[in-house]
Amino acid sequence: MHQITYTYINLPHLYLLPEKLISPIKVIKDTHNKIVMTKDDLLVVEGVRKTFGGLVALDEVNMKVKKNLLVMLIGPNGSGKTTLINVISGIYKPDKGKIIFENKEITECSADEVCREGLVRTFQIPQLFTKLTVLENVLTAYKDNPGTSFLKACVKRTWIQRETEATKKAFEILDTVGLSHMWDKRASELSGGQMKLLETARALMSGAKMIMMDEPAAGVFPSLIDKIFKHFVELKKKFGLTFLIIEHRLEPVLPYVDYVYAMDRGRVISEGKPKEVLNDEKVIESYLGE
Ligand SMILES: Nc1ncnc2c1ncn2[C@@H]1O[C@H](COP(=O)(O)OP(=O)(O)O)[C@@H](O)[C@H]1O
Ligand SMILES: [Mg+2]
Repeated sequence: MHQITYTYINLPHLYLLPEKLISPIKVIKDTHNKIVMTKDDLLVVEGVRKTFGGLVALDEVNMKVKKNLLVMLIGPNGSGKTTLINVISGIYKPDKGKIIFENKEITECSADEVCREGLVRTFQIPQLFTKLTVLENVLTAYKDNPGTSFLKACVKRTWIQRETEATKKAFEILDTVGLSHMWDKRASELSGGQMKLLETARALMSGAKMIMMDEPAAGVFPSLIDKIFKHFVELKKKFGLTFLIIEHRLEPVLPYVDYVYAMDRGRVISEGKPKEVLNDEKVIESYLGE
């Protein structure tokens, strides 16, 4: 396997450069503690521990998510799935361990900073605007829209092209999630499943490279779960998106999943191709107590 060892050094003067040239968040490593990554690894979680008082919610969790895959995180209730996503997305700080996204250490980043790096937990994208149309909901997620800047708004030619491009991209995304025919309907008219897809469309429009979701199938009509995941796969193929999705159980979404991590009592107990993990004795046992 082709492996690269990234060892970054701390160069404070780089932080003074404009953000577009270099991101201020860089992995700072010493030579005793190298993180080994393959070039396809988008997210790396290394030795993460999180406790709440005396309760160990995450115990030395290691995980790698490769680019452009749909990865599932499964496990019985209370196994630490939501806590792990909360730690990755900067909502909680881990007691120990490191989180790397696109070769940058994000362990100490705030939830907003993590989101800006393109690692988006869907609920971090502002809630849907129920009174706006489907298209307007996607367009409002578009970052750096020059038409919203007071100065640039006065000079039409500086934003008209960007707005045309944004609308084109919005339609492309809506097409992929099967919502383009509803572009002028109010978001409040969508079904629960369609709202999940619109939420995902907004995350992508906001610049997400990787999307994390906590039980997106919960509360969705069972026959629609299949449809939602088909659209996730389309988004993955067409826009190169990567997904990390928590579900309690794997069976209903099995055909759409590339890789699985199974957790129990704060630890990763199995990982691999979906069928391998489903047939793993440790995984079967972990669900027996439920
Ligand atoms: N904010 C919190 N305060 C205290 N305990 C928590 C908190 N969040 C989660 N936990 C505990 O951490 C453990 C893991 O919970 P969680 O990550 O929600 O599991 P899962 O998502 O797999 O059901 C559980 O025992 C839960 O009670
Ligand atoms: Mg949970």
